[in-house]
Amino acid sequence: MDRILIRGTRRLTGTIHIGGAKNAALPLLAACLLSDKTLTLSNLPHLADVSTMAHLLADLGVNISMNGTSGGGGNHGRVFELNAADISKTTAPYDLVRKMRASVLVLGPLLSRFGKARVSLPGGCAIGTRPVDLHLKALAQMGAEIDLNEGYIEAAAPDGLKGAHIVFPMVTVGGTENLLMAAALAEGETILANAAREPEVTDLARCLVAMGAEIDGIGSDTLHIIGKKELHGADYAVVPDRIETGSYAVAAAVTDGDLTLKGTRLDLIEAVADILRQAGVEISEVDDGIRVRRGAGGLRGVDVMTEPYPGFPTDMQAQLMVLMSVAQGASMMTETIFENRYMHVPELSRMGADINVHGASAIIRGGSGLKGAQVMATDLRASVSLVLAALAAEGETEINRVYHLDRGYERLEEKLAACGADIERVKN
Ligand code: UD1
Repeated sequence: MDRILIRGTRRLTGTIHIGGAKNAALPLLAACLLSDKTLTLSNLPHLADVSTMAHLLADLGVNISMNGTSGGGGNHGRVFELNAADISKTTAPYDLVRKMRASVLVLGPLLSRFGKARVSLPGGCAIGTRPVDLHLKALAQMGAEIDLNEGYIEAAAPDGLKGAHIVFPMVTVGGTENLLMAAALAEGETILANAAREPEVTDLARCLVAMGAEIDGIGSDTLHIIGKKELHGADYAVVPDRIETGSYAVAAAVTDGDLTLKGTRLDLIEAVADILRQAGVEISEVDDGIRVRRGAGGLRGVDVMTEPYPGFPTDMQAQLMVLMSVAQGASMMTETIFENRYMHVPELSRMGADINVHGASAIIRGGSGLKGAQVMATDLRASVSLVLAALAAEGETEINRVYHLDRGYERLEEKLAACGADIERVKN
C-alpha cells in the first residue's frame, strides 16, 4: 500500500486548480440511466470513486466513452459520453457497491426507467452506520415494492412509479438525489420536502432539467417535480468541488501560505469562508477563483457546528480541526451529521494536537504546535486532515493507507508540491 511522506512547515504559495466535485459527479453519472440518449458530462474529476461508478454503469450495460479533457488552465477534468440505450441488467452487485456507498444512487433511476432494480445494500462505513432507510421509505411512497433479500434491496414498480408528497424526516443528500431521479420519470407530481440543498443536489437537478425534466424550487428545501415519459440527452459540466476548495484553503491558512484556488467559486463555500475569516484567514474573490492567506494577526480558535447546507459541511470538519489545533486559544467542534466522525482525532493527537472528545463535541486547545509522526488514514476526509496537519507540523510525517485520499483528491501531491510542499508518495 502506498504511503505519503511530508516534511512540514513549508509555506505554500502559488495556484491550485480545483476539479469538478466528486459528490456531484457520482449522481450525475447515475443520471445517464434515465434516458436512452447520450449524456455528456465534462469537468469530471479523475478519482477512484468516479471510476468505481463508471465500472458499475458499464456493468449494467451503459456505453461509456472518454472524450478528452475539459477546462483549460491546468484543470484536467475529463469528459465522458454515457449512453444507456442498451441496459442489459438492473442489478448492482455487492462487489461494486461495497467499494462505494454512493453506488446506491443507481436505485432511483433504474427503478423509474425499468420498473425494477436489485442493488446490494451498502454496509456500514468508517464514519457510522449510514442506513438508506429514508431512500427506501420514500420510494415505497411512490408505489415501489421493496424487499430486503440476501443483502440486496429488491425494488419493483411494474406499473411505474407514481408521484407522491414526500417529507424527509431528516436531511439526506443521497436520498434527495435518488428521489429526484426517480421522480423525473414518475407519473404525476412529486414534492420532496425537507430536501437537501447541497450544491451537488442542485447540480443534479440542473442536469436533469437540461435532460428535459420539470423541476421547480431548485436550490430550496422543497422540490416540485413533474414526471416526464422520457428524458433526452444533454451536455453538462460538473460544479467545482467545494470540499477540495475548502481543504486547500485550510492548507494555505495552516502553512501561513498564500494560495490562489482557480476554477472554483466563493459562493459554494460561504459557511466555510465565514468560519475561516473568524479564525483570522483572509479570503477574497479573484478572476475564476479565490485567494486565501493567513491574516497578519495569526489564527485564532473558533466554535463550529456541522449542519446540512448552507451550514458548515461535515466533510470539512476534520480539516478545520487541524486549523483549530494550530490556532491560538480553544475551539469547539460539534458534529451533528454522522455519529462516528472523529477517527482522525487519535491520529492528530499522535502529532501533538490537544483534542478532547465528549460525545458529538470536541474541545481543541490550540497553539502548542504539531510534530511529525507515523499516522494512519481512516476515511477520505480524515486522510486529508492528516496531510494538512503534516504540512503544518515540524519534522516528517508518514501517512499510511492513502488509498482513501485517491477516492476524493485528484493529484494531491502534485498540486501541493507545485506550491512548495515537501511531499512524496512512496509506492509499495
Ligand atoms: C453525502 C456525501 C457525503 C457527506 C454527506 C453529508 C456523497 C456521495 N456523499 O453522503 O460526503 O458527508 O452527504 O453531507 O454525496 N441517513 C439515514 N437514513 C438514510 C439516509 C441517511 O439515517 O436513508 C442519515 C445518515 O446516516 C447521516 C445523515 O442521514 O447521519 C446524512 O446522510 P446523507 O445526507 O444521506 O449522506 P450521504 O448522501 O450518504
